[in-house]
Amino acid sequence: MTSQFSKKAEAWSARFSEPVSDLVKRYTASVFFDKRLALFDIQGSLAHAEMLAAQGIISNEDRAEIERGMAQIRGEIEAGSFEWLLDLEDVHLNIEKRLTELVGDAGKRLHTGRSRNDQVATDIRLYVRAAIDDVLALLNGLRTALTDLGERHFDTIMPGFTHLQVAQPITFGHHMLAYVEMFGRDAERMQDARRRVNRLPLGAAALAGTTFPIDRLRVAKTLGFEDVCHNSLDAVSDRDFAIEFTAAASLIMMHVSRMSEELVMWMSPRIGFIDIADRFCTGSSIMPQKKNPDVPELARGKTGRVYGHLASLLTLMKGQPLAYNKDNQEDKEPLFDTVDTVLDTLRIFTDMAGGITVKAENMRAAALQGYATATDLADYLVKKGLPFRDAHEAVAHAVRACDVADVDLSEMSLETLQGFSPLIGEDVFAVLTLEGSVAARDHVGGTAPNQVKKAIERVRGQLKD
Ligand code: ARG
Repeated sequence: MTSQFSKKAEAWSARFSEPVSDLVKRYTASVFFDKRLALFDIQGSLAHAEMLAAQGIISNEDRAEIERGMAQIRGEIEAGSFEWLLDLEDVHLNIEKRLTELVGDAGKRLHTGRSRNDQVATDIRLYVRAAIDDVLALLNGLRTALTDLGERHFDTIMPGFTHLQVAQPITFGHHMLAYVEMFGRDAERMQDARRRVNRLPLGAAALAGTTFPIDRLRVAKTLGFEDVCHNSLDAVSDRDFAIEFTAAASLIMMHVSRMSEELVMWMSPRIGFIDIADRFCTGSSIMPQKKNPDVPELARGKTGRVYGHLASLLTLMKGQPLAYNKDNQEDKEPLFDTVDTVLDTLRIFTDMAGGITVKAENMRAAALQGYATATDLADYLVKKGLPFRDAHEAVAHAVRACDVADVDLSEMSLETLQGFSPLIGEDVFAVLTLEGSVAARDHVGGTAPNQVKKAIERVRGQLKD
């Protein structure tokens, strides 16, 4: 490591007869990555010091000194001039040591009634809470962008697929709103997880609580936590809240990945349903004609790393006896990378939604192939009194005949159609058109343009809350 990590100063040195090797030091240290928690660490320390003073455990002068020192440290960290030392192992000891350098004994009193175990658990909870709030804001933005796109195409017809075979005509607006629903549930999950994240571990100290007359509710209130963790062993040891967050993040990425897959396919010239603005695509170094949908492809790929982090965290926790174990230090990198990946992905997807051009003619042409209105014909026959299974059979024969003649159902003559069922009359052509087909699915959750508009209104109401 570089020379900035070279000063010696273990917090527990008096207990040990020999120093650890450089390799052990590097292996056990977390400061390279947990310095990311610095501002949350300071926030937690200030709330703790405030409580210690209010309870008469430290003096008000000490508290004022701690605040003064922390203000300077925050400034140094923000300016990038804070000197992080490997020898001081982690973010907590680095900040505490600097505080003591700056304010002397008051700095040494800060750790009264607390341990790094409840300190780090508090920091991570503050970090995850802030991450959830960022994710929620971005999900809102993405849902708005997709709703805007859907609204512009509330009646644009495209083929809907099952088994990736043309199934029934739908509207592009309806298709976009499907993702708006998915991302809406993702937001609900994040909000729900937030309640369990938002509890204060501080006061649990190393594992059993502390002998000082602390006021945990006061600290919880200062930090905006809804409650305290009610068992000290649990408070310092479990990371289920981080796992829950990562699971919710994995579901976001799963939805993003499904959408990515569709965007990539839709942009393939073979399908040609959309174009994605150049700023989200790249070219090929060898094939001059290429325009590749890199952003959705990468988002699909990055889903894997978030799933991986979920598996890491679950495995990290599994098999840990109560209470705190150093294993937990390994929770940070997967968590940080999950947050970075999800936030960036949501940001870029929101931007990209504004850069999608819909090629309505191609969508329409595709919907006209594949007998997308066959179900409509079957439903028509049912409404004329034929049992559904018989109607299904009659239409299957009609579709086979179309296949042989290479025409669409709507292109067959009335006489030919009547050969499949005498119940068919002149009015059949209204249901065989794409417009007739989508307009007929006119109920809550259906694809009729009319319903898409209503669904958009409903979503807009949610997005305002
Ligand atoms: N760096 C540690 C972590 O991330 C902080 C807590 C260390 N506690 C201890 N007793 N070694 O979990």
